[in-house]
Amino acid sequence: MTENKRIVLSSDHAAIDLRQAIAAHIAKRGWEPVDIGPMTTESTHYPKHGEAAARQVASGDCALGIILCGTGQGIMMAANKINGVRCGVCSDTFSAEMIRAHNNANMLSLGARVLDEAKAIEIVDAFLDAEFEGGRHGLRVDMISALER
Ligand code: RB5
Repeated sequence: MTENKRIVLSSDHAAIDLRQAIAAHIAKRGWEPVDIGPMTTESTHYPKHGEAAARQVASGDCALGIILCGTGQGIMMAANKINGVRCGVCSDTFSAEMIRAHNNANMLSLGARVLDEAKAIEIVDAFLDAEFEGGRHGLRVDMISALER
């Protein structure tokens, strides 16, 4: 069985350039970016883009997701409404590592009006390099999942 290397990316109008830079970066790292847009800076509504990306992760079509808006907050809130998605906003590499290692996050949200490109890429790398530790953290993640039922 081949490993799923697909990472869905989406954003609102505030984060088009940063999203595309991250897509190019993760492709260089051997991941397969699935950039579902939008492709123009025309004003749009972050909930629908968060939902669209989250559904690709929840369905298993993509292993992970990276979403962005001005702060990363609104699009994260929308994504977390989809069952099976665990998404956190990160502005530092430690949090990006921890949301995978402890929370088994499958989506990362970033603020394009918060981070410059270099910092955003560091955060993406920390997220992708981390692995879920399981154990006691597994029990806690199961408790999060139970809240969906
Ligand atoms: C759009 O202006 C802005 O509200 C959005 O990008 C985001 O920051 C919301 O959380």
